[in-house]
Amino acid sequence: MRDRRPMPADWYPGTVPENVLFDVTAYVGTSYSFTRCRSELPVGVRVGRGASLCDGTVLDIGPRGVVSLGEYALVTSARIVCDAAVEIGAYALISWDVVLMDTYRVPLDPAERGRLAVRSPVARRGAEDAIPALPVRSGRNSWIGFGACVLPGVTIGEGSIVGARSVVTEDVPPYAVVAGNPARLVRRLDRLAIKP
Ligand SMILES: CC(C)(COP(=O)(O)OP(=O)(O)OC[C@H]1O[C@@H](n2cnc3c(N)ncnc32)[C@H](O)[C@@H]1OP(=O)(O)O)[C@@H](O)C(=O)NCCC(=O)NCCS
Repeated sequence: MRDRRPMPADWYPGTVPENVLFDVTAYVGTSYSFTRCRSELPVGVRVGRGASLCDGTVLDIGPRGVVSLGEYALVTSARIVCDAAVEIGAYALISWDVVLMDTYRVPLDPAERGRLAVRSPVARRGAEDAIPALPVRSGRNSWIGFGACVLPGVTIGEGSIVGARSVVTEDVPPYAVVAGNPARLVRRLDRLAIKP
């Protein structure tokens, strides 16, 4: 176990792992966000300049996972399940109750699921961590509406919007609005003349 740091003025009596790096200008609400962070990489979480990781967000990160928030990205009350990589681009907005997952953590094969169910929690966790993971990316200036779910391997393009409660099963091109389950193209957006 790595050294852990307490956070000043934290409502939760927890600590932040040493491999969580945040810029001095970033906002990280509480150590509660890291209670399920088990990354063993030198950097397991990176929160960039001016980025915000707000209360209620849970980072469920396996031993080989890394989550990164680009500058001025904002994540609020989301759940991020990561065994490989989840990248949130600069200026991206991830709304409440969004789930970004780069792994299902559960085998698709019913027999395997049954075998897992009778194992000890520690053995089960090891098997879950071995399930293949595919990185998830939310591009620069993208916006994921509340309650949406983004499945393993999906990239949301720059400037795109995902409608509330959508399930995104495939890549979203840049400057597109998608919605529904499965998420489908609703319309295209004009590219911004001025980028933030
Ligand atoms: C995706 C969204 C931005 C689209 O807004 P819009 O461009 O004004 O789209 P419209 O309302 O004109 O809808 C266009 C079509 O998409 C459908 N649609 C829009 N949002 C949808 C959603 N979340 N799920 C399913 N379908 C949706 C509409 O029914 C409509 O379908 P139709 O053409 O068959 O009638 C908006 O619907 C949304 O979900 N906003 C999320 C707000 C949010 O999460 N706020 C949290 C604060 S961070």
